[in-house]
Amino acid sequence: MKPVMVLTLLALSLSGPALADEREPIPLNPAQEHFVRDEMRGFLAALQGIHAGLSSGDWVRVAALARGMGKAAGETAPPGLGEAFTPRFREWGSATHTGFDQLALDAESMQDVSLALGQLGEIMKNCMQCHATYRIESSARPAR
Ligand code: HEC
Repeated sequence: MKPVMVLTLLALSLSGPALADEREPIPLNPAQEHFVRDEMRGFLAALQGIHAGLSSGDWVRVAALARGMGKAAGETAPPGLGEAFTPRFREWGSATHTGFDQLALDAESMQDVSLALGQLGEIMKNCMQCHATYRIESSARPAR
């Protein structure tokens, strides 16, 4: 290989995306993994609906969707899930639920779009930080 190619490849490997997944694994059994992934898809669906509700001024919808992702959402968690999480995972998860509860309260009482958008930005910091730090390590058998 020509030296210039080696250098180009080296530069690409230094600047490109990480080749190894360096996120910290959270080991979960199948029921726990299902619950977490289901809740995650619920978060995304709620964010979509909340944005649509904000654009059309549908505050009833905004508040209902936000409350649905609040603290009460975690009450149906399968046994042992809390203990499977690290303290930081629990903290970001809890901040996400609390953020949605606050959004619901303020949506009902203030109906202020720019406040709601700011709250969504803060909520989504938790999504980003946690996704950058952790991955699920599944104990389910890999599909063949
Ligand atoms: C406390 C940690 C944490 C928070 C907060 C968090 N997530 Fe996740 N999320 C995860 C982990 C871990 C995975 C699995 C990633 C993996 O294994 O590659 C995941 C996966 C997902 C998935 C994929 C679900 C599937 O079916 O596989 C979606 C969608 C998602 N998250 C959306 C969100 C959104 C939107 C938010 C914020 C409102 C959010 N998450 C907040 C930890 C978190």
